[in-house]
Amino acid sequence: RRILVLNGPNLNLLGTREPEIYGTTTLADVEALCAGEAQRHGLKLTCTQTNHEGGLVDALHEAAAAGDVVGVVLNAGAYTHTSVALLDAVKATRLPVVEVHLSNPHAREAFRHTSYLSPVALAVIAGAGADGYRYAVDLLATRSAR
Ligand code: DQA
Repeated sequence: RRILVLNGPNLNLLGTREPEIYGTTTLADVEALCAGEAQRHGLKLTCTQTNHEGGLVDALHEAAAAGDVVGVVLNAGAYTHTSVALLDAVKATRLPVVEVHLSNPHAREAFRHTSYLSPVALAVIAGAGADGYRYAVDLLATRSAR
């Protein structure tokens, strides 16, 4: 049994990308943080990052088909605010998804205030930086143990 950490566009640049907003933690650091948290719960963890909208949809389909994924930590980046396809994929797969954002989109530009994913997310964690991913893994692991 495993948790999937799925990161969308521009998150491969974490560490150097607008550090005043996203911090200096790299994606590798984030993934290591998540792996540690999953291990603490006795779960495996796999990580995927893609800059492509369809790649995120594919990753959700594959996670659902695999049958061993107890939940998905999803930072869809900018696609959060635009992607009906991703919303539909979450609905279609019925995977428990925790929507994560490093920053708090509600404290930023108006176009970031809408999330197509929040209505179908199990939970939303925003503004907690890299720790938000760890909280999301903890939430999914705790829930899957019940
Ligand atoms: C983000 C917030 C989004 O608005 C933005 O497009 C991102 C990152 C975050 O983690 O804070 O790419 O999802």
